[in-house]
Amino acid sequence: MRILGIETSCDETGIAIYDSEQGLLAHVLHSQIATHSPYGGVVPELASRDHIRKVLPLIKEILQKANIDKHTLDAVAYTAGPGLIGALLVGAMTAASFALACDIPTIGVHHMEAHLLAPLLEPSPPEFPFIALLVSGGHTLLIHAVDIGKYKILGESLDDAAGEAFDKVAKILNLPYPGGPALAELAKQGDPKRFNFPRPMTNRPGLNFSFSGLKTYALKTTHTYGLDTKTKADIAQAFQEAIADTLVIKCKRALEKTKLNRLVVAGGVSANLRLREKLNILSADNAINIHYPRLEFCTDNGAMVAYTGFRRMQLSGPTGFGISIFPRWEIPSSS
Ligand code: KG4
Ligand code: ZN
Repeated sequence: MRILGIETSCDETGIAIYDSEQGLLAHVLHSQIATHSPYGGVVPELASRDHIRKVLPLIKEILQKANIDKHTLDAVAYTAGPGLIGALLVGAMTAASFALACDIPTIGVHHMEAHLLAPLLEPSPPEFPFIALLVSGGHTLLIHAVDIGKYKILGESLDDAAGEAFDKVAKILNLPYPGGPALAELAKQGDPKRFNFPRPMTNRPGLNFSFSGLKTYALKTTHTYGLDTKTKADIAQAFQEAIADTLVIKCKRALEKTKLNRLVVAGGVSANLRLREKLNILSADNAINIHYPRLEFCTDNGAMVAYTGFRRMQLSGPTGFGISIFPRWEIPSSS
């Protein structure tokens, strides 16, 4: 089975082709950083317009890159949600039109399920069941993935998502968009002894997260100590340590609770190298196998959408020819 995947939920146009026999044939990505950086964050209307400009040229490009004819495709998978409504519509309508022209079905994919399955594209994929920590710009989820399509949410953020917290603290520090990678870069120069930020909700039982207090803590620290270059780096370092420690503590708890020893970490924040360092210590100390997507598939991409489309086609078949999007959508589970 051969699937074209289209990702347009936010600020990246990602296109890929996955073949069930040959694996990932090709993937291409257009990042909208240049479009949004003058505004310091994603402008939804500009995101939709940029997806419109890029999506068809990228589909043409990927067919050439994979060296295949479009009539060899069996289905078109697209991100149906959650995400920005206009951006999702561009992907959904492109998928529907393309599928209609080729007389093949479409399959709407859940963006967070796609992140969850991204490590299955790697050479030693995790076997089910496993614990998944999904850390993106819009979601922080701890999931017991029993099997494909069978997901139990063990914990989630009660307010800001992990990536959102990175982005907001980056803004407080006047760093350029996208904030997460910029903050991580600055944190390398920070003094680890200067500030000690709290590890929210770790001193009580449970697997939920709350990151908005860390943002307030960062803001208050700038009010007291200012925003000189050194203080900015010290705050970035302390914030990153706190968020990474909190995520690791909750992962450990979820693994102990379920007695599992496999952990998947995916979504944009899983590209954070300090988080990976701390998780790798957890892995070594507790005989836990950790699976990450390759760095370029941590953030949004078409490959995870094409692959999830394939797995969902096997599990429940196509969505049909309609245009369905769900800007707010819980991860689908047959429990
Ligand atoms: O998964 P993703 O590309 O998009 C969503 O589904 O939201 O995640 C984007 C988020 C942003 O908040 C971005 O700042 C964060 O992931 N991010 C990082 C890093 N790379 C991306 N946060 C911390 N460190 C990074 N290296
Ligand atoms: Zn994402």
